[in-house]
Amino acid sequence: MLLDGKKISEEVISELTVEVSAMIAEGNRPPHLAAILVGNDGASETYVASKVKACEKIGLGSTLVRLPADVSESRILEEIDAINKNDEIDGLIVQLPLPKHIDEQKITESVLPEKDVDGFHPVNVGKLVLGLPTFISATPKGIMELLKRYNIETSGKHCVVLGRSNIVGTPMANLLSRNSNPGNCTVTLCHSRTKNLADFTKSADILVVALGKAEFVTADMVKEGATVIDVGITRVEDSTKPRGYVLKGDVAFEEVKEKASYITPVPGGVGRMTIAALLQNTVTAKKNSIKPSKFQHHVS
Ligand code: GUN
Repeated sequence: MLLDGKKISEEVISELTVEVSAMIAEGNRPPHLAAILVGNDGASETYVASKVKACEKIGLGSTLVRLPADVSESRILEEIDAINKNDEIDGLIVQLPLPKHIDEQKITESVLPEKDVDGFHPVNVGKLVLGLPTFISATPKGIMELLKRYNIETSGKHCVVLGRSNIVGTPMANLLSRNSNPGNCTVTLCHSRTKNLADFTKSADILVVALGKAEFVTADMVKEGATVIDVGITRVEDSTKPRGYVLKGDVAFEEVKEKASYITPVPGGVGRMTIAALLQNTVTAKKNSIKPSKFQHHVS
């Protein structure tokens, strides 16, 4: 059965639309997301454009800051500082990857944790590891939402995550091993140095693949009845297509779908959920800024 990211993301987005309308009815301005895009990498352009479009669709404000590929690090830091101080902006993302001459870690750490709707700041990553409320990186958050809304049993299951990136694999492994629902999995985190990889993947009840290698996971690597989550989205050259490429996941979808009980398609799977989760985080950022601080005293 297909795990329909398009359908579930639309559900999430329509719930958010209601929430945003209520916020506006109470006299608040709509939540506002700012995105910084450096250079003109085709995939990054597409991702940022989808994020901005999604904001517009549900009535969120958005600002896109475009900077050239040869921009200095200090110029990016200035932009971030201005957005950090701007009370009209609730969330800020810097699209990754950044050009090689920019220190990505330094950039990530300069975003105010309260506005870090990507959940990349060390403070937010630390909170995630401790199980404290925080902004959870959009792709793992979206995958958790998908598992939850399809009522996929995770407790006691063996979940194998392929890929240990800070953005997807590592937080995914953490979230699925938590004492929560979805969660309570026994998690194995596999990576480029893992030996006998197929022995692990074949024992997975839930297989999350975030490697960025087109059609890497084949049917012989998957257990009958497994749930397969495909995070990959690679452009593979195809001169018969108008764009000159096709999008491929990390899973050989056609053969694996015959074996899996649940599987996400590419496109229309995890990517859609990522956008929905980013919107959820942006609405949360705004809500957090509205809530009176617990240190404030209200006398009526
Ligand atoms: N690059 C790949 N995924 C992401 C993401 O979720 N956020 C940002 N900012 N950059 C990315």
